[in-house]
Amino acid sequence: MRIQRTGTFARPRRAVVGALALGAGLAAAAAAPSGGQDAGVLRARAKALFGTLPALAESPANPSSEARVELGRVLYHDPRLSRSQEISCNSCHGLDRYGVDGEPTSAGHKGQRGERNAPTVYNAALHVAQFWDGRAKDVEEQAKGPVTNPVEMAMPSAPDVDRILRSIPGYAPLFRAAFPGEPDPVSFGRAALAIAAFERTLVTPAPFDAFLAGDDAALSEPQQRGLATFLEVGCPTCHVGPAVGGAMFQKLGLVHPYATADPGRFAVTRSEADRGVFKVPSLRNVAQTGPWFHDGRIATLDDAVRKMAWHQLGRELTAAQTRDVVAFLESLTAPLRPEWTRKPALPERGPDTPGPRLD
Ligand code: HEC
Ligand code: HEC
Repeated sequence: MRIQRTGTFARPRRAVVGALALGAGLAAAAAAPSGGQDAGVLRARAKALFGTLPALAESPANPSSEARVELGRVLYHDPRLSRSQEISCNSCHGLDRYGVDGEPTSAGHKGQRGERNAPTVYNAALHVAQFWDGRAKDVEEQAKGPVTNPVEMAMPSAPDVDRILRSIPGYAPLFRAAFPGEPDPVSFGRAALAIAAFERTLVTPAPFDAFLAGDDAALSEPQQRGLATFLEVGCPTCHVGPAVGGAMFQKLGLVHPYATADPGRFAVTRSEADRGVFKVPSLRNVAQTGPWFHDGRIATLDDAVRKMAWHQLGRELTAAQTRDVVAFLESLTAPLRPEWTRKPALPERGPDTPGPRLD
């Protein structure tokens, strides 16, 4: 499914969900456990939990500028940052595919696959930490990882990345503009800062935000019922804050155990209590970022929602409740802006630019 890229959330006016619950009787009342919900009451409860999505995920340590963001966008798409010169960040986090590759696990260097599903880069800069286990503290630290990771972009070493960037003549003016005052600005470290500055612009307002801002009609009746259910059953215990998640780590299988061989955050902290603990993912654009869960083993959003209710909350959702929650999650899908999805022109290679390595 692709949504329209209109940038507006206008929809025909509809009656508020309270009126619907009265009209549709028992079925709707059962779907929204609190009974008839007034949109205003629902909004007030939601705003207290989710706050307001910022326009940009700013960081004082990596000040944004147009030149830095544009350099980051170019680097994000440049496959010469990989050993085979065939893989860029965009290969696994396609910006026109909601920041993912649609596969359970991703094919990296020579088709090798890691153990985990590629999460979306959209809104990632808002998270408390990066990766499913939170092993990088922010997008600045994260951006260096995949380039030298042997199963991802597989560059032999950081100095090799410096060398390739310096060998491409067109990068010098772009780095100078992005890092003014630096005598020798072209480096892997600054490339990572620029990529992170670009990622910090990938914040995606959706119909849900229009609803939070006061537009009742931005969410359909099923979506409002789904939001009411989402709140009622306790999903925001974990999926909370402006990214509707990304704010904490939690055990997968908190109430009913969930089978996984992945040690989760234990690999970072070495504390037994962190075995099977993962970063609670953001649910923004989640309808577009399947397959789901850290191992990509969940093929439908319906199943993801039912498994969450059971394993995390010990609740069994009815078919109608599940449908409504999925409808609500679809209201977190944002129209993708051309400045995010547009492919940049890459600067040409120079006489000393090394060629691809297929070993
Ligand atoms: C071969 C596929 C692949 C490539 C190439 C790749 N990534 Fe990833 N990315 C992944 C996978 C898989 C994960 C999750 C790994 C984990 O959590 O252990 C991930 C995680 C991330 C995250 C963390 C998001 C979150 O919610 O925690 C960010 C941000 C990210 N990648 C950005 C990038 C950038 C920037 C590049 C290019 C420099 C890049 N990735 C290249 C597959 C890839
Ligand atoms: C106790 C904390 C907790 C609660 C409560 C919770 N979740 Fe989650 N949620 C998580 C964690 C942790 C993950 C990551 C799972 C993994 O690593 O495989 C997750 C993953 C998800 C995903 C998959 C996201 C993705 O990108 O793969 C969806 C969808 C989701 N939750 C929806 C819900 C819904 C709907 C509810 C309420 C019925 C809910 N969650 C309740 C902690 C929670």
